[in-house]
Amino acid sequence: MSSPTELAAWQVLTAHQQEMASVSMTSLFEDDAQRAEKYCAHAAGWTLDYAKNRANDKTLSLLTELAKEAGLESAIKGMFSGAHINNTEDRSVLHIALRASQAQETLMVDGVNVLAEVRATLKQMEQFVAQLHSGEWKGYSGKTITDVVSIGIGGSYLGPKVVAEALTPYKKDGIKVHFVANIDGSDITGKLKQLNPETTVFVISSKTFGTLETLSNANAARDWFLSNGGSQDNVSKHFAAVSSNVKKAVDFGMAEENIFPMWDWVGGRYSLWSAIGLPVAIAVGMDNFYALLDGAHQMDEHFRTAPFEENLPVIMGALGVWYINFHNAQTHALIPYDHYLRAMPAHIQQLDMESNGKANLLNGDGVATDTGPIIWGGAGTNGQHAYHQLLHQGTRLVPVDFIAPLTSHNPIGEHHVHLIANCLSQSQALMVGKTLEQAKQELRDAGASEDQVEAVAPHKVIQGNRPSNTLFTDKMTPATVGALIALYEHRTFVQGTIWGINSFDQWGVELGKVLGTDIYNRLVSDSDNSTLDASTQALIKAFKKLRLNRLAFYTALTKTPASAGVFVFIPSPSLQGLGRGSESEAFMQVAPSGRHRRLYMTPS
Ligand code: F6P
Repeated sequence: MSSPTELAAWQVLTAHQQEMASVSMTSLFEDDAQRAEKYCAHAAGWTLDYAKNRANDKTLSLLTELAKEAGLESAIKGMFSGAHINNTEDRSVLHIALRASQAQETLMVDGVNVLAEVRATLKQMEQFVAQLHSGEWKGYSGKTITDVVSIGIGGSYLGPKVVAEALTPYKKDGIKVHFVANIDGSDITGKLKQLNPETTVFVISSKTFGTLETLSNANAARDWFLSNGGSQDNVSKHFAAVSSNVKKAVDFGMAEENIFPMWDWVGGRYSLWSAIGLPVAIAVGMDNFYALLDGAHQMDEHFRTAPFEENLPVIMGALGVWYINFHNAQTHALIPYDHYLRAMPAHIQQLDMESNGKANLLNGDGVATDTGPIIWGGAGTNGQHAYHQLLHQGTRLVPVDFIAPLTSHNPIGEHHVHLIANCLSQSQALMVGKTLEQAKQELRDAGASEDQVEAVAPHKVIQGNRPSNTLFTDKMTPATVGALIALYEHRTFVQGTIWGINSFDQWGVELGKVLGTDIYNRLVSDSDNSTLDASTQALIKAFKKLRLNRLAFYTALTKTPASAGVFVFIPSPSLQGLGRGSESEAFMQVAPSGRHRRLYMTPS
C-alpha cells in the first residue's frame, strides 16, 4: 500500500484537527448529554470508556473511514484466513489460531490444519503439567519436582512472565515457577541460589534455539545441574524445551517427548498462547490456561466481527493514530490500577514497539508519517507519586490508558475503593485541569496573601484537556487477562495497518545481534580494531585493559600455594576501612594460624 497520508480521510482529518484545536473535552460533554454513554464499547468482559478524548462524532467517523481506506477490513480477513500478511518473511500470522482450537475444528493454512497441531500441543502440555502437579514426574534422585525455571528472552519470556504474575491469585500450590532472561550472570545466579537440582526442572523457551542469552543461560543451568549431583544421562529428567528447532534441543540433552513445538506463523511477542505459555500453565494449571485462551478468543471474535464503530481494538488503534499523527504525541502510557498487572506495560511495550517501530511501508518505501509511539507506564497509584506530574503539567501530550478491575482479589478495608477512586480521579484531573482563577481562589481560601496568590497561582494551573481511555472489567480472571492482552495485540495490528507497515517482522534487532557477536570476538582476542569507529575502539580498549588487569590479579592469586592458608573474599573493602580508593573487591589471605597475612586488592 502507499502512504496513508495520501488517503482521502487523512487529508480531511488534517483539516479537522484544526477545527478541534480549540475545542475542549469538557465542552464536548456539555454539548452532548449522552456522550458518556455513547462513547463506551464492550467486549469479552471489558468496557472501554473513550469519552475523554479530543474527538467528536465527526472525528470518530473520519478515523473509521481512515481505517477502512487503509484496508483494515481485508487485513483482518487476511490474518484470520492465514494469508501471508507478514510479507517480508512470507508467513501467516496466526496467534489467533492458538486460541481458536477449542471453538473451531479446522483452519487450513498452506494445506495444513493448524488447529489440529495446536490441539495436539495443548494435549502434550496437559500431560506435562499433570505429571508435574501430581508428583509423578520425579527428578534424578526420585524426589518430586518443586521448582520450574523458564529460560527465554523477548517474546519467549516477557508475555508468560507478565501473565503468570497477573494470575497470581490462580496459582496452584506445589510448584514454584521462576523466570530467567538476562545474559547478565546476576539473573541466573540469583535464581539458582534458591534451587535444588534434584527438584528443579528447566524449560528452555526459544523458537530458534539459537538466541545468545537463552543458550548462555541454558548452558549455565546445565553446568550447575551437572556440577551439583546431576549427570548427563539425567539431563532429560530436568530439562524440557519449547522450540521449532528440535534437533538443537535434542543435541542439548532433551528427550523428544519433552520438546514442545513452535511454528513459524507465531511471532515471538505473540507467542505466549503457544507452548511458550507452558510456565503459565504450570503456574496456574491447564484449566486456567484454557480460560486464558478462551478470553483471548472472545476478543478475537469481537475484533473479527464487530463493526468498526463498536470495535475496541479499532477504536483504540484509531484514536492512537489521531494523537500520534495529528497531535504529535510521541508516547502512550498504560497505567493499570491492579498490582498483579504491574508488569503489563512492559509486555505491551515489547509487543507494540517491536511490532510498529518501523520506518518502511509494506512495499519498502520509506514512511511519510510517524509510526509506533514509545509505550511506557506502570502501576497506579505508585506512578501518581512519580511521573504523573509530567502527565498533568508537562509540555508533552501523553494519551493514557487506565486499566482497572472493579473487584479486588484481596478486599481489605477500603483499599480497593481508594484504588478505583484514584484511577478515576486521574483521568478526571487530566481532563478538567485547573484554571488560573481556580488556583487563585484556592490560595485565597487557604488564607494566602495577595502577593503569595500572584506568585504561586501560575504554578498550580493544570492545563487539562488531556485525553485518556478507561478500560474496566469486573475482575482480573484468566479470561479477562487473556482478552485484555489480545485487545492490545489487535490494537497494534490496527495501527500498523493504517500506517501501511508490517507489524510482524523485527529486522531492526538483527544488526545489534550481529555486532554483539563481532564485539564479543574482539573483546576476547587480540583483533585489529582500527577499522571500527573511534568511540567503539576506545570502549573496547578500556574494557580489555580492565579485564587484563583483573585476569593478572586472579592468576597471581591462584599461584599462591594452598599451604599459605585460605582466602577470604571481602566485598566493598574500602567500606570496611581496607585499602584506598574505589576498588570493588579484595581477598584477605589468612594463614593456617588464623592470622591475617596479606590483603589482595583488585586493580582499578
Ligand atoms: O529480540 C528479537 C527476538 O527475535 C524476539 O522477537 C523473540 O521473541 C526473541 O528474540 C527470542 O527469540 P527466540 O524465541 O528464538 O529465542
